[in-house]
Amino acid sequence: MLIVQTIAELKACLNKEREQGHSVGLVPTMGALHAGHASLVERSVKENDVTVVSIFLNPTQFNDKKDLERYPRTLEADCELLEKCGAQVVFAPSVDEVYPEPDTRVFSYPPTDSVMEGAFRPGHFNGVCQIVSKLFMMVEPDKAYFGEKDFQQLAIIREMVKQMNFPLEIVGCPIVREDDGLAMSSRNMLLTAEERVRAVNISRILKESRDYANEHTLQETRRFVEEQIAAIDGFIPEYFQIVDGNTLQQIESWEDSDYRVGCIALFCGKIRLIDNITYIL
Ligand code: PAF
Repeated sequence: MLIVQTIAELKACLNKEREQGHSVGLVPTMGALHAGHASLVERSVKENDVTVVSIFLNPTQFNDKKDLERYPRTLEADCELLEKCGAQVVFAPSVDEVYPEPDTRVFSYPPTDSVMEGAFRPGHFNGVCQIVSKLFMMVEPDKAYFGEKDFQQLAIIREMVKQMNFPLEIVGCPIVREDDGLAMSSRNMLLTAEERVRAVNISRILKESRDYANEHTLQETRRFVEEQIAAIDGFIPEYFQIVDGNTLQQIESWEDSDYRVGCIALFCGKIRLIDNITYIL
């Protein structure tokens, strides 16, 4: 596995691969890798000749400086995991390499980017689009892989790819969960033991709401989740919305969409967690 830090090294290595007709898969990450990332890398390894994994803690997508400061940094362990998954190239550039100048580009995909994460984390998706578009230009992948846990991010990246005519395929991959149901996230390692136990209620309540939804209206189901979450000590809810999975806009009844996704964000202590569930009725 090759580990490169500069765009020049990355391009030199990928040019050689392309000369041989090899396809390239990209898995963008911010490091602190877990089994969820491993599933994206393994899928890319299966579907492409060469898999590039970028590890870059992108400062422009953090609207909260403290969140950036406390974000886990585990490069050595990340590389060990990637080697086991069969990735061929790790691209781990510095901030100066990626942003030689401040990125003043503005990305705006209304109404998809103005709700939920967009409303609670102003500027977040602009930063995500800045880095992801740069990575697409640096790597020029045939396919790029993103997890469905960041459901809204995936929708916005799909929109950006369409609007900017990036010649690549976006592959959305299912959420990977811990044995007890908690959606895998790099932030889980920041939870205290007590918070970790509490966090499992998120996926439990979402799962229960799926059964509840079979017998109840959308409004009742939304209230069910909100009340259950509010009853857990130490949770500070931000939002729970049931949206159309394509437009990300709230729906008011089950009949409003045939792709209904419940998206939740909350603080468990100081750590912000997100999750989502699809309602198949
Ligand atoms: O989902 C993430 O880890 C990040 O938002 C991404 C896509 C790697 C961009 O920094």
